[in-house]
Amino acid sequence: MSDIEIVYLTDRSKECATRLQEKVPKVRYVSDIVPVLPDIRLVVEAASQDAARYYVPLALSAGVDVLIMSVGVFQDEEFQADTFRLAKRKGAKVFIPSGAIGGIDALCAASIEHIDEVTLTTTKPPSAFGTNSYLESKGIKASELRERTELFYGTAREAVKHFPQNINVAATISLAGIGFERTKIRIMCDPAVQTNEHHLKAKGKFGELDVVTRNVPSPRNPKTSYLAALSAISAIRKILGHSWVGI
Ligand SMILES: NC(=O)c1ccc[n+]([C@@H]2O[C@H](COP(=O)([O-])OP(=O)(O)OC[C@H]3O[C@@H](n4cnc5c(N)ncnc54)[C@H](O)[C@@H]3O)[C@@H](O)[C@H]2O)c1
Repeated sequence: MSDIEIVYLTDRSKECATRLQEKVPKVRYVSDIVPVLPDIRLVVEAASQDAARYYVPLALSAGVDVLIMSVGVFQDEEFQADTFRLAKRKGAKVFIPSGAIGGIDALCAASIEHIDEVTLTTTKPPSAFGTNSYLESKGIKASELRERTELFYGTAREAVKHFPQNINVAATISLAGIGFERTKIRIMCDPAVQTNEHHLKAKGKFGELDVVTRNVPSPRNPKTSYLAALSAISAIRKILGHSWVGI
């Protein structure tokens, strides 16, 4: 992005930060963002919920806009309310990209009117589940499943508790639509699939929404969907640019 002069980067692992700094000429590593905050237009959190809890209030308090990837942090209602209140008080903005799922723009628009239901069905291969204490408590071994099997159906709030890998998508949908209690999540394991598939369905006064996203892993970071990284880049382009399609 030619408009951007400098990207300040911080990471609790200096080694990771240094590796990235070597690849991108505009990146400058800082051990602490506080001294550079007055020069920053946008803080991008792409690290962890812990990082969001620390850096988001820090940036907003200084009146700097933030883009948050670890959106699962907003399952904590108190943190959510405090963050949005602080942004308002300081005249700063909180940006939450659509991340690894399509249809968030339509869900936001639809939720201006009455929504009857929002359901997300996530289908993943057995390898995506790893060790999961919820499945262990139910006596389910994902690696031994030979056919498509429902592992969970319940509220988004319960889903993020039992399946933290799904946390960001469930949180984004809940925030865009009808909240963590009314949003329903179904989690399927299917040995025949290679992608992480998200099927978002909503029904309301607007009509019906039916969107399927089949994510491939990010080439340089296999535990993250490629679309999530692309979504962050697209969001930064919108925020720093002069036109905005799909707002
Ligand atoms: N919104 C979405 O759809 C979506 C999709 C994928 C990932 N994510 C989220 O984005 C975040 C980044 O994902 P990733 O796959 O790149 O993670 P990653 O683990 O590959 O990289 C995270 C980096 O952040 C650093 N870090 C973590 N906590 C930190 C802290 N408190 N202070 C400073 N540095 C810290 C780590 O050292 C690491 O270098 C995660 O929270 C993940 O859940 C969101």
